[in-house]
Parts: sequence; C-alpha cells; structure tokens
Amino acid sequence: MRNTAVIIISFSMIQHSFSTSRKHLQHLVLAGLFLLGACSTQNQSDDESAAKTAKESVLNLKLAAGKTLYESNCAACHDSGSSGAPKLGNKEAWSGRMAEGKDVMIKKAITGIDGKIGMMPPRGGNTSLTDEDVKTVILYMTSKINTSEENTSVESPVL
Ligand code: HEC
Repeated sequence: MRNTAVIIISFSMIQHSFSTSRKHLQHLVLAGLFLLGACSTQNQSDDESAAKTAKESVLNLKLAAGKTLYESNCAACHDSGSSGAPKLGNKEAWSGRMAEGKDVMIKKAITGIDGKIGMMPPRGGNTSLTDEDVKTVILYMTSKINTSEENTSVESPVL
C-alpha cells in the first residue's frame, strides 16, 4: 500500500515538473491523501485496541444512563424490595429471572407484571420511557446482580 502511494507521488511529481497545470497539482494532493490513508491502516492491533476501548466507553455510558434512569424510575421499589420487587444486586432474587433471559425480563418490564409475588406497572409507571430506555435500565440492573453468595447487599454489589 505504502509503496504504491510513494510511486504514485513520485509519478505525480515528475508529471508536475513537466506541467504546472491545475490538474496535476490535484493529482499530487490526491496522492498525498492516499498516502495518509495507507499509513492510518498500518497498525491493526492499535485499531483493534482502539475499537475495544470505544466499545467499553459505549458500555460505560449506557451503564451510567441506566443508573440515572433506574434511580428516578425504578429505585423506589427495587432498592427496598417493597411489594416483592427483586432487590437491586440480590443474586437470589434475580437468578430465576436471569435464567429466563434478558429478553423476557425486558418484555415483562415494558408490559408490566401482575405476578405471584407482586405488581409492577408497565415501564415502572413512567409511560414516557422508551423500550430502549427500559433495556438500558435492565442492562444496569443486571450488571449489579451479585455473584458472591455471602454478599447480597445492595450497598456493595459485585460487578
Ligand atoms: C411500583 C413498584 C415497582 C417499580 C416502580 C418498578 N418495579 Fe420492577 N418489579 C416490581 C415487582 C413487584 C416485581 C416482581 C413481580 C413478580 O415477579 O411477581 C418487579 C420485577 C421486575 C423485573 C423482573 C422481570 C422478570 O422477568 O421477572 C424487572 C426486569 C424489573 N422489575 C424492571 C424494572 C424497571 C426497569 C423499572 C423502572 C423503569 C421497574 N422495574 C420499576 C415492582 C416495581
């Protein structure tokens, strides 16, 4: 790639020395841009780690957005576990639901639950939340589910 670009540049320069017409100047500029492009794709492992970092940043942003939405729409029941709501971070309360899968949980949280344990209004009672919002909150909630048997407190969830 790089060699090709250098050849093109040299070729353009030769042409350029014969003629100073605008067209050839454009060639030179294009060849320069091409060389820049070739350089930027050279180190693939750098690109991969940059992509990984970008993915992690997106996940962190989603988790932060989920936390904010959770606090204003869901915490009232899920922090205390009132009326049978599975408590945030409590592995026992969530394991059966996790086994059903996230899609089922998202669907139930959107439509509301009139379950054996308790009642949950659709979207936690805030109908202005979009499906995507609910998904984002559940991403946050499931990230808080405790993986240690001894420690099931909301205060110190294990990620
Ligand atoms: C008024 C109280 C209340 C609010 C507010 C509330 N929930 Fe719930 N939620 C419950 C109760 C009670 C259950 C358990 C119902 C059952 O299983 O019988 C539940 C269960 C769930 C479940 C488990 C679903 C499953 O598959 O079993 C999810 C996920 C959930 N809530 C998400 C949310 C989200 C997201 C919000 C905020 C947008 C929210 N809840 C707000 C009371 C609430």
